[in-house]
Amino acid sequence: MVNYKLNRDFFVISNSDVSESAPYPETVLEGLTDSGLAMARSEITSWPDYRATPLVSLDGLARQLDVNTISYKDEGWRFGLQSFKPLGGAYAVLRVIQRELHASSGQLFSSTEILAGSNKERVLGVTVCAGTDGNHGRSVAWGSRMFGCRCVIYINQAVSSGRESAIASYGAEVRRVPGSFDDAVRAAKETAREEGWHVVPDTASGGSITSSADVMQGYALLAEEIVEQLSNAEPPTHLFIQAGVGGLAAAVCGQLWQAYGLARPFTVIVEPHSAGCWYESFKAGKEVVVEGELDSLMAGLACGEISPHAWPILRKGAHGAMTIPDEAAAQTMKRLSMGVDGDQPIVGGESGVAGLAGLILASQSSEARSLLKLEKNSRIVVVGSEGDTDPETYTKITGRSGKEVRQQAIEGN
Ligand SMILES: Cc1ncc(COP(=O)(O)O)c(C=O)c1O
Repeated sequence: MVNYKLNRDFFVISNSDVSESAPYPETVLEGLTDSGLAMARSEITSWPDYRATPLVSLDGLARQLDVNTISYKDEGWRFGLQSFKPLGGAYAVLRVIQRELHASSGQLFSSTEILAGSNKERVLGVTVCAGTDGNHGRSVAWGSRMFGCRCVIYINQAVSSGRESAIASYGAEVRRVPGSFDDAVRAAKETAREEGWHVVPDTASGGSITSSADVMQGYALLAEEIVEQLSNAEPPTHLFIQAGVGGLAAAVCGQLWQAYGLARPFTVIVEPHSAGCWYESFKAGKEVVVEGELDSLMAGLACGEISPHAWPILRKGAHGAMTIPDEAAAQTMKRLSMGVDGDQPIVGGESGVAGLAGLILASQSSEARSLLKLEKNSRIVVVGSEGDTDPETYTKITGRSGKEVRQQAIEGN
């Protein structure tokens, strides 16, 4: 194991348990399967307004960082919710409803049938509940409104009022509790148990192994889109991806592993300094909980406990982890919004740009380049997991609204 504090700005560590020369181990990693993906694909692609989000080439930035290509998967365009989260939370809501209807009728109803109003009364009697730092709750609320069930969302004190009202705008009841993201997750789990509701967490420790597995399986569709979008290009050599509980990172890492086999990309997990639970877990070789305030500008990544579903995939699948300061995320948001050296301007939110921020920092250090095998011919994929999900914060950081930046992109710089 190599553990460097490379400079004041970031930490990087290699994962000594990584499986470098083995095919995707289906038996261990049963959370993500071909049949699970087929089901998620068939449902999610049938929802109104589904389309694959863009994979944008950042050639100007690649030149600056002295790598070959950077492909930025822009989840700011997902279902009008500005983040990748509906692929998971809303899909898990659908699966709860499908299971409820199956239990009472013996039939499996598709999204299309449920959206057409079949079993409307029975769906109305279902209540789903989730603890969130913002985006997951928004996607669970959005899915609940789309499919017609009731929704209660728990948030902690640090979640901005902008994020709170975005959740409430989908008709969910929002309850604020003291403490961190993990406390909101616990409150949702306990209330759901007391009330007989369905908890839909984005981590298995949130009280439902089934729903948290559905969440991760839904995210894998995003990775399948990337593989299709790169089908005429050489496979990527690197994936830099941000993690909170690790569901997104595990889904993308696992899906790319299935798609590319032994040629899969070198995978680096990126977290805020204050919430490096993956970094600490790789360091210890076991699941570690990070305590404390966990506060970060990267609100979606401010989690102290890794997801038990994500652990078997990333323990074997990730090659390393980094922690980065909040300023790196803010600078990357600004840089993206302006478009580097002819690149299209992109709206990337605080948590959404963390993987790219990690790449930018690592590429400037010769030790990190060597540890992470970054070279002139590296082809890197990053997942821009959110746009301006908190418009006020976005404007404060970049000096322009997301709308203005998008307009500039449409007009061609
Ligand atoms: C924008 C964004 N990116 C990344 C993540 C991290 O996802 P996960 O908690 O599955 O690691 C989150 C989680 O809320 C998020 O909101």
